[in-house]
Amino acid sequence: MATNVAILASGSGSNFQNIVQSDLDISIKVLIVDNPHAYAIERAKNLDVPYRIVDRKQHTKDSFEKEILTILKEYEVELIVLAGFMKILSPDFISKYEDKIINLHPSLLPSFKGREGIKDAFEYGVKVTGVTVHYVDSGIDTGMIIAQEAVIIEDKDTLETLEEKIHEVEYRLYIEALKMVLEERQ
Ligand code: GAR
Repeated sequence: MATNVAILASGSGSNFQNIVQSDLDISIKVLIVDNPHAYAIERAKNLDVPYRIVDRKQHTKDSFEKEILTILKEYEVELIVLAGFMKILSPDFISKYEDKIINLHPSLLPSFKGREGIKDAFEYGVKVTGVTVHYVDSGIDTGMIIAQEAVIIEDKDTLETLEEKIHEVEYRLYIEALKMVLEERQ
């Protein structure tokens, strides 16, 4: 049976859309966003995916995570896929879904952790950056790596062209990595 998945996002949601439109053998039960202005919400409406807004600003850290956990239980979620979700989940939350939370990060970890992986790599001046898919553990961008791919930064690249190159790799790599995760779960 298809694995029940929740996708968590904070912003544009292009990876969310890409996953919904992929051939992955999953049942996307719900999109959860922490930001009521996230464009991902419009995508969920267009794609007919149920969505829930858990506004971080209306919650304490504790009640924010409790609300998300309630939604995950309600939808019998087995796998949590972070797609541009910009909030740090607590060790307590993560322990409830150990090895069941996957994250996409726009750099070659362990370099350029954090919220601005693309910009930080570009401004540092590295010639190679990339994309990483990893399990989420209690550290920040430290969990076991599932898949990784390099992206060359050329002299002619701007931050914008680099962002495009990274996203292109993300769309392919996240699907490949999720396929590996699903196979391992069988
Ligand atoms: C993606 O580039 C993803 O790697 C990044 O946010 C973007 C979301 O784009 N995630 C992180 O930086 C996590 N620290 P999207 O909303 O269009 O999918």
